[in-house]
Amino acid sequence: MADKKNIVMSGIRPTGFLHLGNYFGAVKNYVRMQEEFECYFMVADLHSLTTHPDTKELKLNVQRVLSENIACGLDPEKVALYCQSHIYETSELYLYLNMLAYKGELEKTVTFKDKVRQHPDNVNAGLLTYPVLQTADIILHRATFVPVGKDQEQHLEMARNFANRFNHRYGEVFPEPQAFNYGSELVKVPSLDGGGKMSKSENQMATLYLSDDDELIRKKVMKAKTDAGPTEPNSVKPDYIENIFLLMKLVSSEDVVKKFEDDYNNCSIRYGDMKKQLAEDMVRFIAPVREKAEAIRNDEKYLKDVMEKGAEKARKSARATMTLVREVMGLNYFAP
Ligand code: TYM
Repeated sequence: MADKKNIVMSGIRPTGFLHLGNYFGAVKNYVRMQEEFECYFMVADLHSLTTHPDTKELKLNVQRVLSENIACGLDPEKVALYCQSHIYETSELYLYLNMLAYKGELEKTVTFKDKVRQHPDNVNAGLLTYPVLQTADIILHRATFVPVGKDQEQHLEMARNFANRFNHRYGEVFPEPQAFNYGSELVKVPSLDGGGKMSKSENQMATLYLSDDDELIRKKVMKAKTDAGPTEPNSVKPDYIENIFLLMKLVSSEDVVKKFEDDYNNCSIRYGDMKKQLAEDMVRFIAPVREKAEAIRNDEKYLKDVMEKGAEKARKSARATMTLVREVMGLNYFAP
């Protein structure tokens, strides 16, 4: 039975195939949350325009993200699975919230600073107000739980600020949204090259995609950085080794992880064997998702139905919120 008190909302940009970070940071939680809460999950196509203004591939990319979400276990009958651009109310709320967001705080956002560094020729206003649009997505459904990875923590903090600012200025409409994960803390899946998180745009060989074929998975895992191994028992692991263990904990059995932990601690670890094992466990994890997603992606009619039904559900909730918003803002000039 869905718990109507807690509403869940989250989104993923259609800027490429989903990777392990997207799965363990976000989608895995979605799949569990759909059984317990009223859920709104969307493909953030408008957000992708801030960095990818060319729309030639957009439809295909939206279809990919939808297919991969469904292949991971998301049931479009249980949740509203929709496309951000289909919900026009988002743009209206985004506009109102923009008047409550200050240039100084937006310029300090870590993701904005990263994007300025990556795309110095395209520092557009949409990029600056990216967290405002994200807030509109979330509070449009008056959501309280937002399943996301660790990299979205600051955006969620900003969403709370904007929602509270709106409530103080105009009247109590929005509950405070919070980043959510079933575990004890938000997840950050590391990349295979020892530095940073797995991401769609950075080093492709250091990112495991849910669409990678078996050989490519093996190749990427075997290339992961290692060294000659520890020389002192129970020594601290360097970051790149810690990352391999972290990845192993996501897909391998506890026994397997324990065996390699023990080997590490008594200095008998063979990283070649560890990576071979990790590669096989990754293949076992990714292959069924990839195959399912491929089949779904080829069914255009089904995907169109999913998008239409999802948009209908999301619009219903969006309309109810926007009626309240216009009311508290005093924009309902025709009311008696
Ligand atoms: P995006 O498309 O970058 O990522 C989608 C989800 O995947 C998570 N994620 C990770 N989690 C753990 N480890 C990683 N290496 C990793 N890489 C990505 C992200 O935290 C995210 O949960 N701004 C959002 C999209 C968005 C959104 C929203 C999210 C638009 N509107 C409303 C929540 C609510 C983004 O760019 O996600």
